[in-house]
Amino acid sequence: MNDNVYVLDHPLIQHKLSILRDKDTGTKMFRELVSEIAMLMCYEATRDIPLKEVDVETPVAIARTKVIAGRKLAFVPILRAGLGMVDGVLNLVPSAKVGHIGMYRDPETMEPVNYYCKLPADLPEREVIVLDPMLATGGSAIDAVNTIKKYNPKSIKFMCIIAAPEGLKAFTDAHPEIHVYCASKDIKLNEHSYIIPGLGDAGDRIFGTK
Ligand code: PRP
Ligand code: URA
Repeated sequence: MNDNVYVLDHPLIQHKLSILRDKDTGTKMFRELVSEIAMLMCYEATRDIPLKEVDVETPVAIARTKVIAGRKLAFVPILRAGLGMVDGVLNLVPSAKVGHIGMYRDPETMEPVNYYCKLPADLPEREVIVLDPMLATGGSAIDAVNTIKKYNPKSIKFMCIIAAPEGLKAFTDAHPEIHVYCASKDIKLNEHSYIIPGLGDAGDRIFGTK
């Protein structure tokens, strides 16, 4: 596996992921779990954010302590399902900006169709974390990152909940420098390019559309 792929195997993430996969988990619980898992994953994905030293006056002395250095974040969910991860990551980084990329898989060809893009104007000053719960063939993620790269962000990371080996390979072949964070590398894709065992259609389960 590419050195830039991180499988986040923290027990809390793995426990919540098991409930998320269950076909009997309803929309409300599913939505909450996606948000919680995204928050926990974001904690890991931001581990390398640079710090700088500052002096803070406590009630009793001056503390030489650390705060996050000037580098700013932007989260970019891939619509629709990526929206389910936004609340969770904003809980951790409330000052981050949020861009949106609209993308769906053509049900016949499985090719991604890009239908919307609105990104923060100051992207060249920002580190971008792209959000999508599912990396299946990788087509949507590859295309979204191709689009974001045109806006010259400082850096890009990709965060998904479940990744298929096929999608991971395609993505890391296309964008080898990008760090990918997932909670599970699953077994394979089925003949409809759904992840096995996966969790079904993430967008439909988040929004209750099926
Ligand atoms: C899902 C998922 C990803 C994409 C992954 O979106 O949220 O964006 O499929 O598949 P890929 O790796 O093969 O491109 P979907 O196309 O179902 O759209 P939706 O989020 O609007 O439901
Ligand atoms: N998109 C999903 O929502 N689920 C899959 O298994 C594959 C793509």
